[in-house]
Amino acid sequence: AGRKKRARALEANRQAARFYYDYLNSPGGQRVRDYIAQRQITHRFAVRFGLGAAPDSWDELTRALTAQGFSKMELIDAGLAVAGKNGGVYDKFRSRLMLPVIDVRGEVVGFTSRILPGEEGAKYLNTPETIVFHKGRLIYALNLAKNTKRPNLVLVEGNIDVITLHQAGFDNVVATMGTALTEEHARILARYTKELVLCYDNDAAGKQSTQRVLNILKNAQLNVRVLQLPNAYDSEGKPLKQDPDDFIKRFGPAAFEKCLNDSAGQNDYRLGDLMSRHDLSQEEGRLAYLKEAVGIVAALQSPIEREIYGNKAAAAAGISGQAFAQEVERFRKNRT
Ligand code: UTP
Ligand code: MN
Ligand code: MN
Ligand code: MN
Ligand code: MN
Repeated sequence: AGRKKRARALEANRQAARFYYDYLNSPGGQRVRDYIAQRQITHRFAVRFGLGAAPDSWDELTRALTAQGFSKMELIDAGLAVAGKNGGVYDKFRSRLMLPVIDVRGEVVGFTSRILPGEEGAKYLNTPETIVFHKGRLIYALNLAKNTKRPNLVLVEGNIDVITLHQAGFDNVVATMGTALTEEHARILARYTKELVLCYDNDAAGKQSTQRVLNILKNAQLNVRVLQLPNAYDSEGKPLKQDPDDFIKRFGPAAFEKCLNDSAGQNDYRLGDLMSRHDLSQEEGRLAYLKEAVGIVAALQSPIEREIYGNKAAAAAGISGQAFAQEVERFRKNRT
């Protein structure tokens, strides 16, 4: 019974992707077509990612799919429709840019969708958890990125970041579905690559997510690097939000390639981030920095790594590697 339900949910989502794709190319798809053009996504990449448009209607998809033989309950179970208070059944997605979410085997399992400019509501809206849509293990664009010839996979925050980076020649880019990376995601990624490069947005939220993900990846069978996008400023010198999509549009693919090549190993990233949060020209800042740096280095399993990163961390605060190493060993003893 479970297998049959799964097959029906997959079929409903596949037909919905077709419906949204056709709608995008119909007169009613004009606003979404304009928005895709505004995001500088080419026709070729819109097709590659199966982009579509949800009509500005309460039930156009529901009517089209029930006419194809799906029951309303099946559409609700597939995450495509929702039950209203008065017993009616409505389309889940209305008047939005539709991005099908395709699993690694090539099946449409659900959607993410973006609001159009000038509308009110959630910027992104996803399919809810269903029998085939599991956010905790879905990796957007892995069906494409698994075929890359590049030596690693790059993990970004946003689905549009994925599309514009693929378009710029980085066919190794993937994203999770608006949630933090889980250990399950890490296990899946490790089946497809030896090295993962984290490239989250250059804002406070992105930096926080990077720290969280580094902790989750501690036990993963992956070499982890961090690509931190440089800061960008407006004409008055105010810092601008910058995500990979913004960066590629401002500076182009060659600049991104350089950032990718220069991305830091995770230990250098952690120490660098720590340094940026303390004033190392003041004794107070140096002490606070050293205290946290000892914790980071003490957590490294390899004594060779502890020596390498211990020396770097000590040098940044102007103390000897030896004194730092003593603190690290003391910290490790007290923990076990
Ligand atoms: P961002 O706010 O960085 O979105 O959130 P973005 O991808 O840069 O969006 P654009 O460029 O304005 O289109 C990163 C990701 O977090 C999830 C989405 O998956 C998004 O891509 N998110 C964000 C949501 O699920 N809901 C939201 O309201 C916002
Ligand atoms: Mn399941
Ligand atoms: Mn963000
Ligand atoms: Mn963005
Ligand atoms: Mn972003």
